Amino acid sequence: MSQMTERRPVTPVAGRRMLIGRGESVASVLSAIEDGSAVRVVFIHGIAGIGKSTLLAACLDEARASHTVITLDGRSVEPTETGFVDALGRAIGLPGADLERLLAQLADRAPVVIAVDTFENLRLIDSWLRRTVVPGLPPEVRLVVAGREPPVAVWLSAPGLEGGIRAVALGPLPENAAAELLVVTAIISSPLHYPRGPIHRQSTSERNPRLTRDYTSVIRLL
Ligand SMILES: Nc1ncnc2c1ncn2[C@@H]1O[C@H](COP(=O)(O)OP(=O)(O)OP(=O)(O)O)[C@@H](O)[C@H]1O
Ligand SMILES: [Mg+2]
Repeated sequence: MSQMTERRPVTPVAGRRMLIGRGESVASVLSAIEDGSAVRVVFIHGIAGIGKSTLLAACLDEARASHTVITLDGRSVEPTETGFVDALGRAIGLPGADLERLLAQLADRAPVVIAVDTFENLRLIDSWLRRTVVPGLPPEVRLVVAGREPPVAVWLSAPGLEGGIRAVALGPLPENAAAELLVVTAIISSPLHYPRGPIHRQSTSERNPRLTRDYTSVIRLL
């Protein structure tokens, strides 16, 4: 077992980053990047505000204990092959290097996690990533992406990637976690005092963490 497994918190709530109700998803991502896992690419996906970036950041906080972590964000990467290679080169500290050199550098720094947030912005290079970049990744280099769309089906049947793809779908927070979020954002002292009625009647949209937090900000202004 790797060091990371021993350090993994059961409930990753405490610490710098507030992360409520996502213990299973954290475990799924971290187990995929452990040594020995056959997974090469992890797709964290879900609708806007559901908590993808928050989950990704929390997983990377854990992974840093044992991995080199390289982060990219689709909002600042030109969605072309050259744009991606340039962005990766800058992130690694080798601006202008070609893909081959970057892959060799990644092998030297392994184990490595390359994290790409806002991955939906890079859909134009999805097939190039699948056909060229991922097959060329050194063995202990994992790609973890977070975006609004699930992986397109061909990722799951791509030659050489069988069993190498893990999709981690994020849905609404579980009801108890949504209640906890309302409590910790301090608009209610107990889930029973939720101003919109019993907490278990919260609609699915109200269990979207961004909407919950926006709602609590507005309530505080009233
Ligand atoms: N599990 C959680 N516990 C507490 N707060 C959370 C949780 N998940 C998300 N949040 C909060 O909800 C808000 C939205 O989360 P986040 O930015 O991660 O969503 P996203 O899925 O990445 O959205 P987008 O698709 O727009 O990038 C943030 O303020 C974040 O702190
Ligand atoms: Mg995000």
